[in-house]
Amino acid sequence: MNINELIKKIENPGLYEKGTSQMWTDDHISKLLLDVHLNKEIDLASRKESTIDSTINWILSKTGKEKLNILDLGCGPGLYTEKLAAKGHTVTGVDFSKHSIEYARSEAEKKSLNINYINENYLNLNLEENQFDLVIMIFTDFGVLLPDERKCLINIIDNVLKPDGRLIFDAMNDKNLEDKIAPKNWEVTESGFWKDQPYIGLSESFFYKENKVVLFQHIIIDQNDNTEIYRFWTHFFSDNDLRNELKGYSFKSLSFFDDVLPAGDTWSGDNVTFCVAEKLKSNTN
Ligand SMILES: C[S@@+](CC[C@H](N)C(=O)[O-])C[C@H]1O[C@@H](n2cnc3c(N)ncnc32)[C@H](O)[C@@H]1O
Repeated sequence: MNINELIKKIENPGLYEKGTSQMWTDDHISKLLLDVHLNKEIDLASRKESTIDSTINWILSKTGKEKLNILDLGCGPGLYTEKLAAKGHTVTGVDFSKHSIEYARSEAEKKSLNINYINENYLNLNLEENQFDLVIMIFTDFGVLLPDERKCLINIIDNVLKPDGRLIFDAMNDKNLEDKIAPKNWEVTESGFWKDQPYIGLSESFFYKENKVVLFQHIIIDQNDNTEIYRFWTHFFSDNDLRNELKGYSFKSLSFFDDVLPAGDTWSGDNVTFCVAEKLKSNTN
């Protein structure tokens, strides 16, 4: 192992420097993640089933219509899409994890639910304009996108929403921000979350105060000295920050709620803000 190389890698990375690897689409990790999503009792990858149920009811209460055409961005294995389709809504789910979408498609077939699943990066979505009443993006994924990616995604959402449609998403808010910085941690294992072979994992987080960003970084070194770097640039927002994110698009009103989730760890309860953005009723108002 070249220790000098390693030291360079673990030095404070420049803002938004990309890692080398993507967690959600890695074959080994995404298989393990599917089990995590499907565990109904924990708030990891997906929230607990009871929270999903209450969140869906809350989301539907914020839309003014009976039967909706819904787009779920980053739908994972379809925990929200299925429940929404079972309530009679028309649903499309998008996710770039092949394992999650394959699982979601097979479950929909078993349950005779007609859900359109798209296995694609949502930043490259090219869907017909003005077709959805509601776009949702759940589990604070908005804040893991880099600023340019967020702009790209909001533009896509703005285009596919019908006039008077709603965008509803959740984001980590900036309350008690410094508590979110995770301590350094290392792992030596024969097989684990990051690889199904022996590896050393060095995990650390870095706080970029001015940008309200915490980088969660995991450096994984295998027995052949191959190094992979996973970086999660996690943004924290005030209501006003979210307002600025949505400025310049065709949303007429924004509301913010931090009482949607039950209290829990620092990633739930009132640490998470839900934003409801209503699109203008027509292109002229
Ligand atoms: C934290 S999980 C949440 C899944 C689901 N919304 C839920 O709460 O059950 C994030 C999901 O977003 C997907 N994802 C992340 N970035 C994506 C991208 N750029 N395009 C499509 N899917 C993405 C991941 O594969 C993963 O399934």
